[in-house]
Amino acid sequence: MNKIGINNEKAEVLSKQLNDLLANYQIFYANVRGFHWNIKGEKFFELHVKFEELYNDLILKIDELAERILTLGYRPEYRYSEYIKTAVIKEAGQTHNGVENVQNLIDSFSILIQKQRALLDLSGEANDEGTNSLMSDYIREQEKLVWMYSAFLNK
Ligand SMILES: [Fe+2]
Repeated sequence: MNKIGINNEKAEVLSKQLNDLLANYQIFYANVRGFHWNIKGEKFFELHVKFEELYNDLILKIDELAERILTLGYRPEYRYSEYIKTAVIKEAGQTHNGVENVQNLIDSFSILIQKQRALLDLSGEANDEGTNSLMSDYIREQEKLVWMYSAFLNK
């Protein structure tokens, strides 16, 4: 057992998966900052603000994820060179097209939600309520965002 009473082997697996999730969040975060800076066109004022709201939310979750890894007794990865190697979410490159950017948000959230569902199974099995409730909060919030971004794109 670790200090918070979770089986050591399960805590290690959870921490690895949380680090993988963290890598994806960090690349996504940098992408959304890029979208915020580079957006052009008639939806500028709307999307510029929406992207800022999103990256501010992502940075809070990034900190929660890193600190959850520490709480489980492991170390969060902080090197972007490592994030790039592990993340499924890729750097978006230079783009100022709002529709493409919003589609990127939907695709990225789809990846994050699936990873979080896998973590939810693992944390449930490990009786790790702390990680479990974090994941279920993120999933619920982000599923709603996917609906709203899809509505924005008329999808
Ligand atoms: Fe700004």
